[in-house]
Amino acid sequence: MKTQADRLGKIPEYPFARWGERVNATRARGIDVIRLDIGNPDLPPPDVVIDALCSSARQSSHHGYPGYRGIPALREEITSYYTRRFGVNLDPKDEVVPLLGSKEGIVHLALGVLDAGDLVLVPDPGYPSYTTGAVLAGAEVYKFPLGQERGFLPDFNAIPVEVADAAQMMWLNYPNNPTSATADLGLFEQAVAFARHHDLLLCHDAPYCDVVYDGHTPPSLLQIPGAKEVAVEFNSLSKTYNMAGWRAGMAVGNPDVLASLSRVKSNVDSGQFRPVQEAAARALAIPGEWIEVRNRTYKERMRTAISGLASLGFPVTPPSATFYIWTRVPEGWNSEGFATALLEKAGVAVAPGSFFGEQGEGYIRISLTSPEPRIAEAVDRIRKVIKGISSVWSG
Ligand SMILES: Cc1ncc(COP(=O)(O)O)c(C=O)c1O
Repeated sequence: MKTQADRLGKIPEYPFARWGERVNATRARGIDVIRLDIGNPDLPPPDVVIDALCSSARQSSHHGYPGYRGIPALREEITSYYTRRFGVNLDPKDEVVPLLGSKEGIVHLALGVLDAGDLVLVPDPGYPSYTTGAVLAGAEVYKFPLGQERGFLPDFNAIPVEVADAAQMMWLNYPNNPTSATADLGLFEQAVAFARHHDLLLCHDAPYCDVVYDGHTPPSLLQIPGAKEVAVEFNSLSKTYNMAGWRAGMAVGNPDVLASLSRVKSNVDSGQFRPVQEAAARALAIPGEWIEVRNRTYKERMRTAISGLASLGFPVTPPSATFYIWTRVPEGWNSEGFATALLEKAGVAVAPGSFFGEQGEGYIRISLTSPEPRIAEAVDRIRKVIKGISSVWSG
């Protein structure tokens, strides 16, 4: 009996699934693990969003199939958010697609747009699903490096012309997971020009655009004039409104590309539970102060983590967005070995940088999705074990 498609052999098991099992096994040994490894917000969504979900779920007519393109109220709220936040105008009819979380859309977009043998440009390090979607669609992947020396921004000129000409799609993600780098409009202008020049679809993934510090306001790629002709952007309620488990996101931009995405989705997922859509619409209408207060919480955690890690010799720069710290492992260690040592000896789970690609080797990613006292305790625990496990630590 055949139990696995050949194409599945080309995608590794989701690295965080394997890592999660290791964390659970450590917990099963009685160790109190502080989880700073996954980007899973620990704070609750706004009360009004939970109220909207509950009251909608009490309507007897809200439990059937919800339709395919998302309810108009949600599409309009996404449109209003884009106008208010970025000054970008979208047509709610065909330039907005609600998603069951942006990960779903990222993978389904590939199935809607790519053919076997197509080529996709993917950042390394990067969020694994860009590659997963391409591989499931039978496409090839060319990884372009995001190096520390360039602030983890792409060097468009370093991508060979024949590769760029052959490619059908390119992924960018700012504010960036895992490096926490941010991009400005200048970078997005270059990206749109590159996409036009090489006749490829530019996909920008922006789930961290509202997890920001010190007044930083990351732009949307769609702010670049004409971007909609060559680009789509993904966004999510997971990080902005602490709704990761709800599975609510969006794709916006080029209507032809979104039509392909919708065609895949309508054949696969039959839409999103109506109460989740109504609650998501409510979330998007929430005044910015709620987000500011939430960001202040991350900022306090960031201060504790950065000062603690710096005192241990980790090279860290305070990021202006995301809740991630991306830092080098001590000399003589690889990412997974160091993360495993922290897990087993300190009971602190961090993400090995190598989970995000070859260029992530030598780094770990620390996610500030635990309360501040737990982060302070994690730093203390690391302090106690670091000398023992890192005889060649040079900072
Ligand atoms: C860069 C990036 N894109 C997309 C996602 C997926 O988010 P969701 O599917 O919860 O909307 C994540 C989640 O961690 C992410 O970090």
